[in-house]
Amino acid sequence: MKSVVILISGRGSNMEAIVRARISGMRIAAVISNRDDAAGLAFAAAQGIKTAVIPHKGYANRAQFDVALRDAIDTHAPDLVVLAGFMRVLGDDFVRHYAGRLLNIHPSLLPAFPGLHTHRRALEAGVKLHGATVHFVTAELDGGPIVIQAAVPVLPDDDEDCLARRVLAEEHRIYPQAVRWFVEGRLALDENGRVEVKGAGSATFALHLPPLDME
Ligand code: GRF
Repeated sequence: MKSVVILISGRGSNMEAIVRARISGMRIAAVISNRDDAAGLAFAAAQGIKTAVIPHKGYANRAQFDVALRDAIDTHAPDLVVLAGFMRVLGDDFVRHYAGRLLNIHPSLLPAFPGLHTHRRALEAGVKLHGATVHFVTAELDGGPIVIQAAVPVLPDDDEDCLARRVLAEEHRIYPQAVRWFVEGRLALDENGRVEVKGAGSATFALHLPPLDME
């Protein structure tokens, strides 16, 4: 049985998708938030999952918060730590401590649009494809090895909200998939730092595109 700790800061819909996936061989040891008003905490508690809050505001600096968070996580001895809308940047020591067992989901097709406001920036840039990426976390913000991506079209009438909704629906598909691969022991890093998914074939991307005009 693989033990997983999920970190959230708000709504927690990705955490919910992972919980609802009922991945066999996975036990969710805890859901931890840096905010006590994170809506997702109620869902986790209702599922009988342990919850905890480590408020970032209670610490003098980021390093101290990182240590407190790490201690809270490590009481559960997790095989995997899942960042699911966790809105704090984690320091190098923290990231190194969980090397190879820390996943994040980012709402863009990385390496495009790292950082915040990805949907707005995608609309401003006029890209025709946007999406979401699950990746291993490294010290480089939103820069670690990519596990799976899903692409969606950017449609002419899209605004930030409707584009975000379309991307989020894909996040809820690919994050449980990536966690399942990890739990099944199928994720490996090759010598170039790229992720290999054993036995997945081309299933490391998902495309949901309307046909081209000429088809
Ligand atoms: C998601 O779009 C995720 O990609 C980003 O923050 C959002 C969190 O949503 N990192 P939720 O809390 O999982 O509903």
